[in-house]
Amino acid sequence: MMNSAHPTPQLPPTDHQPKAYEGPSYEDVAAMRQRYLTPALFTYYKKPVMIVEGHMQYLYDETGRRYLDGFGGIVTISVGHSHPYIMEKARQQMELLQHTTTIYYHPAIAEYGKLLAEKMPGDLSVCYFVNSGSEANDLAMLMARLYTGNYDLISLRNAYHGGSASTMGLTAHSTWKFNYPHSFGVHHALAPDPYRGAWGRDDTESGAQYAADVQNLIQHVTPGKVAGFFAEAIQGVGGSVVYPNGYLKHAYAHVREAGGVCICDEVQTGFGRTGEAFWGFESQGVLPDIVTMAKGIGNGAPLAAVVTTPEIAKTLAERIHFNTFGGNPISCTIGKAVLEVLEKENLQRNCLEVGGYMLDGFRKLMEKHDIVGDVRGKGLMTGIELVKDRVTKEPATEECARVWERAKDLGLLVGKGGFYANVLRVKPPMCLTKPDVDFLIEVLDIVFGEL
Ligand SMILES: Cc1ncc(COP(=O)(O)O)c(C=O)c1O
Repeated sequence: MMNSAHPTPQLPPTDHQPKAYEGPSYEDVAAMRQRYLTPALFTYYKKPVMIVEGHMQYLYDETGRRYLDGFGGIVTISVGHSHPYIMEKARQQMELLQHTTTIYYHPAIAEYGKLLAEKMPGDLSVCYFVNSGSEANDLAMLMARLYTGNYDLISLRNAYHGGSASTMGLTAHSTWKFNYPHSFGVHHALAPDPYRGAWGRDDTESGAQYAADVQNLIQHVTPGKVAGFFAEAIQGVGGSVVYPNGYLKHAYAHVREAGGVCICDEVQTGFGRTGEAFWGFESQGVLPDIVTMAKGIGNGAPLAAVVTTPEIAKTLAERIHFNTFGGNPISCTIGKAVLEVLEKENLQRNCLEVGGYMLDGFRKLMEKHDIVGDVRGKGLMTGIELVKDRVTKEPATEECARVWERAKDLGLLVGKGGFYANVLRVKPPMCLTKPDVDFLIEVLDIVFGEL
């Protein structure tokens, strides 16, 4: 039901003027997609939005209408859409050299490897560059198996680690798994979800309790030895699930006891997004053996990486390992520029401050609207879980779709996720401001009120 008592929320002012759009019409683009692209493509919204321009935390459609991007191109825009510094560096590199592969020396990959390794704690100092998160996780699976000589891998239910033939096995949502053999040797432990799982946030031992399931799985469904354990630092696609304190510490101990290595998927959480630390795993007080990263690493460029220890890295030298676009001069130049901007613009701190302000706003929405069952996240990696009933926690899937659709009508784009598609995922570019948050909260307040 529309609530006409509210004035339309206004986006904060911006100096950016979008260019007049001169490309094919909305209808022509829709027809070409329908005719020439895979039917497996899914779009957001009943009438999909056509986005033709971006500037920092804002997006523009073909009519020049501005939206606040609360989802960052699926958590991929870290420093801001078409950030001028990144664009300039990429342009300069494009003019000099676009591609060679790693068979020749090039300064960008070497300098970028050094810069990225310097961002890592412990002995994590060897970088492999690839093009996507799925590729990074594929490579990490290979490394874990080769290094340990074991085959079995543990991943978590409700995880998303990619859609390639092998990473589909790590992913644990039926919605993303095709009916085809993909999970050889992969076993899924309980999701350490303090909202929906057996142990809640008031249970101080819940981290150890959920981790005990990892040990149980190792003991009962593997030969007692494993190659490794995959976990996101915070489950992203699964609906911004933040693990209880101590979970990864206990889980890692069980895995290492069984000869396995620990892999942290930082595809969504890395590069300061969680505000508390540069890497999501740091908030859990652990040091992984392998870290995979993608999305925010390139602010929209096809760049991903696996970083590991020199000892684990040696295993890939036993055969030829090659990736045509991995370490491409343009991607590496962009990756380097992203690290520079993160530092210059203090974006991790911005995530902490603006993210904290946003989470406070979400908590106020929860006090006011019964539909909000849970509010969670760290920094600008957040989620709002909608339920029909706070006691039964029955997922409010259809209501979530309505909120998400109406928010778009009011100029706010956010993500939707969780196994029941009842979690609003708010993971905007890291340059989000407090006035943007005021707009975002105002929109959600109106839309929740309309349900
Ligand atoms: C945590 C996580 N890992 C891996 C991936 C796969 O990345 P890509 O789509 O670049 O293959 C994703 C993508 O959403 C992700 O969220």
